[in-house]
This record gives sequence, structure tokens and C-alpha cells, in this order.
Amino acid sequence: MEAIYLDHAATTPVHEEVIEAMIPVYREVFGNPSSIHQHGRKARQILDEARRNIASVLGANEKEIIFTSGGTEADNLAIFGVTENTGKSHIITTSIEHHAVLHTMQELEKQGWEVTYVDPEPDGAVDPEKIEAALREDTVLVSVMMVNNETGVKQPVERIADILEDHTAYFHSDAVQALGIEDIDVKTMNVDLMAFSGHKISGPKGIGFLYATEGIPLKSRTFGGEQERKRRAGTENVQAVKGLEKAVQLLKDNKQERVEEYSKYKTLFLETLNDQEVPYQVNGMNAVASIVNLSFSDMNVETMLTNFDLEKVSASSGSACTAGSVEPSHVLSAMFPEEPERMTNSIRFSFGAANDEANVKEAAMRVAAIYTRLNK
Ligand SMILES: Cc1ncc(COP(=O)(O)O)c(C=O)c1O
Repeated sequence: MEAIYLDHAATTPVHEEVIEAMIPVYREVFGNPSSIHQHGRKARQILDEARRNIASVLGANEKEIIFTSGGTEADNLAIFGVTENTGKSHIITTSIEHHAVLHTMQELEKQGWEVTYVDPEPDGAVDPEKIEAALREDTVLVSVMMVNNETGVKQPVERIADILEDHTAYFHSDAVQALGIEDIDVKTMNVDLMAFSGHKISGPKGIGFLYATEGIPLKSRTFGGEQERKRRAGTENVQAVKGLEKAVQLLKDNKQERVEEYSKYKTLFLETLNDQEVPYQVNGMNAVASIVNLSFSDMNVETMLTNFDLEKVSASSGSACTAGSVEPSHVLSAMFPEEPERMTNSIRFSFGAANDEANVKEAAMRVAAIYTRLNK
């Protein structure tokens, strides 16, 4: 039986061309990019080229790209980086952010910052007017993700950026789930800080980057060498950066076809469940093509996931798993405070490079068979 992967929002298979781009760098380019001799210069050239190419895909300039170990570090650098030593006191975010943002905010609260968490509407998106209403004179930072990782729901980032045009607060957006699926131009979107990750876009794990608009005062979180224009100390992972560059370039080449393909998979998956008479509710509206979060009434998420795994379908609850048990989703609980059952009966399916129409249909048939068996 073929193992079918429907968890691309958790991570993605590494693209063959990404592997091919990285191998020669592993073999031939071992110099430290900070060394001034020829070995170092060769590594530096790879970093510089990647930085330029990645920046150009996003409409940024190369000075605005800071390589990090992934999305989590990029979020941390953005949030701590602009709040440290500002002497101000207020931040706005949403209650549906990834823990890379939420736990960072909680850390700042311990340090005396006041954080307003704006709840989403039942459709899964935050209302920009509620962000506007929460703004204060001493608001230093607003952080709202571009696409939610559990529901796939797109957030009104551009409207929030417009609202912030006349305010001094910096605007950070976690775009980890949006890259390659949504159009991103950091200048027209008017964001100050944006976090990205390599492993969600068929790139390697342990690499990501932060876009930080030129001139923004950003304090480093790491102390050591002067890499990344003193904003992130530590020898850069040259091989992973090469892979990240390739992954970003591949996204640009065939974006429209790819998104249409994922959209087709989602429709096919849901239609197959309908044909098999599996009742479900979709959690969230206006989600990206690659993600759908479904609530199955009278089901239990852990039982379902265990049975999916036995039948070789890999999906997830989308929320954190600790020691084999699934924590109730903070995203669904914020969307549906009156419907706690959705927190324990919902599954995220996410489509991508490991799929084709045949395996998506087959996965839906297996899910339907499991549902019917468990429902008896
Ligand atoms: C929205 C979002 N932000 C941040 C992260 C963290 O990224 P990384 O795994 O590269 O640290 C993830 C990964 O799940 C994510 O989905």
C-alpha cells in the first residue's frame, strides 16, 4: 500500500533540483564566507548571489535579507529585534499566530510588555478594524501572519499595512505558509518585517530568512561575529542557503500551475468525501489552495490520526503534538469558542509536491473508509 502524504503544511519533500544545487556546494565549497582568501570568497559569492536572487523574487533589496535557521528564528529576530530597548510598551498580534510568534509574545509579556491578542472572526480571518481599534500611541509593533498554518485562512495583511501607514508601529508578518502560494512583494505590501522558511517550499530544513526593511533598527539576538550585517552572528549555512535559493526560484517559475494543481487536489479530496457520504465541516473560509481543515462530528482527532497512519495516510491536526497526544488547537478555540468539539475532531489536510490526482483520491477513499468504520 502506497504511503500518501497530506501534510505539506508541516513540511515538504526536498525538490530534486534543490538537492542537485546543494551537492556541488557540499563537495567543492567548504570555505568560511567570512574568510578573505579565495576559499572564503567562493562561499561568499554563493551567499551574495542567493541573497540577491531571493531578494529580487520578493521585490526586496539584498541588504534586507537576513538568513536564519528557519521561520521560528526569523519571527523571534523580528519581534525581539524591534522591541528591545525601545522604552515603549504595547504590541498587537492575533490569537491565531504560530507558536513561533505567540510564545515570543508571551516572553515579552514576562518582561513587562503589554500584548493585545486580537481574536479571529468565525471565518478564521482577523478583522482589520479590530487591529485598528487596538492601536495605541505607544504601540511599537503589530504582528499578523499572512496565512494561518492550521486552517490555511488568508489574513488581511495588506489592509492592515494600509491602516498602519499613518502610525509609527512596525508591521511584521509571518509569511511561512504563504511563500510560493500567495503573491508576495514586500514593497507593495508595505510590510517592515516578514519571516520565511525553507522547508515549507521544498527546500532544506534549518534555513529561512527574515526580510527587514532597510534602515529599521533591528537588534541582533545572537552575539559573536559580524555576519548578516551584524544582525545575526554565526557562520552562515552556505549549502542550505544554496538550496533555499533554488527552492525560491522554482516557486517563481511555475507558480500559477502549481497553485491550480493544489486547488484541484483539494476539490477532488472533498468531492470524494462527499461521494462517500462522509459528513464534515470546513474550518475557515478563504483558505489557500494547499490547505483544508475539516471537522468530523463525533470523531476524535487522535483516534482518526492513528487510524490514518495505520492506513498509510499522513495528515495532522495542525496544532502541536506533545509525546504522542494532540494539544487542543488554539486557532480553532479562538475561531469557535462556543464549539469546543471542533478542537478535538478536526484534521488538517495539506496538499503539495508529493501528490497527484490518483493518490489524493486514494487518500480520500481511505479516510472515508476509516470514518465509516469508526462511526459504526
Ligand atoms: C506559520 C508558521 N510560522 C513559523 C513556522 C516555523 O518555521 P520553522 O519550522 O522553519 O522554524 C511554521 C512551521 O510550522 C509555520 O507554519
